[in-house]
Amino acid sequence: MRIVLLGAPGSGKGTQAKKLQDDKGVPHISTGDMLRAAVAAGTEFGAKAKAIMDAGELVSDDVMLGIIRERLAEPDAADGFILDGFPRTEQQAQDLEDLLADVGAPLDRAILMNVDFSVLMKRLTGRRTCSKTGKLLNVYYSSQDELDAVTAAGGELVQREDDNEDTISNRLNVYRAQTEPVIGYYEAKGTLAAVEAEGSIDEVYDRLLAAIG
Ligand code: AP5
Repeated sequence: MRIVLLGAPGSGKGTQAKKLQDDKGVPHISTGDMLRAAVAAGTEFGAKAKAIMDAGELVSDDVMLGIIRERLAEPDAADGFILDGFPRTEQQAQDLEDLLADVGAPLDRAILMNVDFSVLMKRLTGRRTCSKTGKLLNVYYSSQDELDAVTAAGGELVQREDDNEDTISNRLNVYRAQTEPVIGYYEAKGTLAAVEAEGSIDEVYDRLLAAIG
């Protein structure tokens, strides 16, 4: 399984990719998570990435290609991967195609998580991550039991720094301007499948499995 999950911020790419990883044993590769790890490690690159992410802008295509090339060369990605957050520009889509052509392992599918923009702000401002397990939750959509279980286990519900209204607005603008063209890129290649990504997480997951085939 070599797939890309496309979709606006908050469309549920990370949520669904984690379920797929747990079910199928295929690594979930999130460029956002990798950049946040660099920020947490306090590297010079992390500091530069943090400023870009806090503004809701994109890290340069060259840098992202280097990161993804290294990650896809790791042994766990040899039998497949779920890419989340990459590619995000037409240049990145072309770079990924070239990279995979070099190793003779083309993409199976690019899956678009389709969500009405009106629900994204609520999903993103309500998102919280468990500090212990990394589990994604939401103060508006998760059950009280799920939220309480995190604190009962000694975890904290952490909010991402870029999940404030101003940064989210810019992330959505950047998505429209720079990432939406990637949908057309995969449509033209005949590898695009769209999934209706509203409804419960389990309903969306069933649709995703059907789209993967
Ligand atoms: P990244 O981390 O990739 O953020 P994003 O694309 O903005 O996507 P999100 O993680 O916000 O949303 P998601 O679709 O994963 O939704 P989730 O499942 O969490 O990137 C962050 C930044 O890094 C970028 O802005 C950029 O600066 C940089 N970057 C990363 N990759 C880059 C690249 N390739 N090139 C350049 N720069 C790059 O769900 C959201 C919330 O909704 C959660 O609380 C969840 O519980 C809830 N939820 C999910 N599904 C449902 C449902 N069905 N019903 C109700 N609630 C739901």
